[in-house]
Amino acid sequence: MAATERTQVGIVGAGPAGLLLAHLLDRQGIASVVLEARSREYVENRIRAGVLEQGTADLLTESGVGERMARLGLPHEGVILRFGGQDHRIDFRALTGKAVMVYSQHLVVRDLIAARLAAGRRIVFEAERVSVHGFDVHDFDTGRPRIRYQENGAERELECDFIAGCDGFHGVCRPSVPPGVLTEFERVYPFGWLGILADAPPSSHELIYSNHERGFSLLSMRSPTVSRLYLQCAPDEDLEAWSDARIWAELQTRLAGPGFTLREGEITQKGVTPMRSFVVEPMQCGRLFLLGDAAHIVPPTGAKGLNLAAGDVAVLSRALGAWYGAGDESGLAAYSATCLRRVWKVQRFSWWMTSMLHRFDTHSPFERRVQLAELDYVASSIAASTALAENYVGLPFL
Ligand code: APR
Ligand code: PHB
Repeated sequence: MAATERTQVGIVGAGPAGLLLAHLLDRQGIASVVLEARSREYVENRIRAGVLEQGTADLLTESGVGERMARLGLPHEGVILRFGGQDHRIDFRALTGKAVMVYSQHLVVRDLIAARLAAGRRIVFEAERVSVHGFDVHDFDTGRPRIRYQENGAERELECDFIAGCDGFHGVCRPSVPPGVLTEFERVYPFGWLGILADAPPSSHELIYSNHERGFSLLSMRSPTVSRLYLQCAPDEDLEAWSDARIWAELQTRLAGPGFTLREGEITQKGVTPMRSFVVEPMQCGRLFLLGDAAHIVPPTGAKGLNLAAGDVAVLSRALGAWYGAGDESGLAAYSATCLRRVWKVQRFSWWMTSMLHRFDTHSPFERRVQLAELDYVASSIAASTALAENYVGLPFL
């Protein structure tokens, strides 16, 4: 017989979505338990993206987990679009009054885990065979949501009022929703990104997004001594075919620009990520709520993955606060509709950046010219560059 534990919100997944939700609920006195399939060491060292919107950075600071970000994070007030051998800076500060923060996602995860454990709250790492039950009800008063899992081989059951599915794209929560409830929207791109981490001082103090006839490339960074670089490749590119020398040679070609020298260094990590846009509607089923990658995936070109997860968390933590604080269920009932308005705008921006900056083998010479003209328009029009800047620094969460 499984040992049963009770809490208010059962959270599946200790990625940015699950951990930030647990943290914001805790600050409102709402209890939760986080169940994570992998080890602490694994989730704290998973290399992902690293650009935080102003709103995400503010949320971390205001909720008391922004100390290391303030110390190590790199505030950026603009980005550079490089195409046709020229550079064009998009000045976020001048166009929107806002900026972004370059700070690694795995450090955000470490900061949230440290804060949670320091507060004596529970995260069950290496929780196995997680399954979710009893959430599919039509109001917030009936039903008995519970999460079953194994901990060190022992059967466990977590009874809760609500389940937050923060278990990413390949998790168990979304597939547990009964057939016919969810509709999936997807676009798979005919390319991927070959990404590297390198012990090389960043060759620019701002990110460079480069559109080159050989394909897209991106110069980003992690610290004054570590660069993060990406180049467009096939979705199933064979990494074995890419020696470090070949990677640097290709980056040198694609990132060539006026008065620019790309500094090389030892490559410490490399990988290929396929690219897709994905949204599921609705983002809730009864007392199960889907957040972050469990509900939507964006191509990384707009640096929106983590920030979109933070947006969902802001909406759900406010709605749960209203429910537990005042018995007001309106925020919970509107959770999916509220999130999806922002999710689709961010999907549009990420698809647009991807379409404008990558090489499409199917493009005719006419389409190639139109793509370059769009870049030229964005770079030379206050209205168009403001639109890019406004989306890049982040649309309002609520
Ligand atoms: N049981 C428990 N935990 C699970 C299960 C499961 N069956 N399946 C997955 N998980 C865990 C994963 O191990 C991972 O730690 O859920 C977590 C999901 O975290 P993320 O994939 O980081 O998703 P999310 O928190 O929504 O953050 C979205 O992460 O992938 C990036 O680009 C993405 O930046 C975006 C951000
Ligand atoms: C990163 O720093 O990893 C990064 C930055 C910008 C992007 C994607 C990834 O658009």
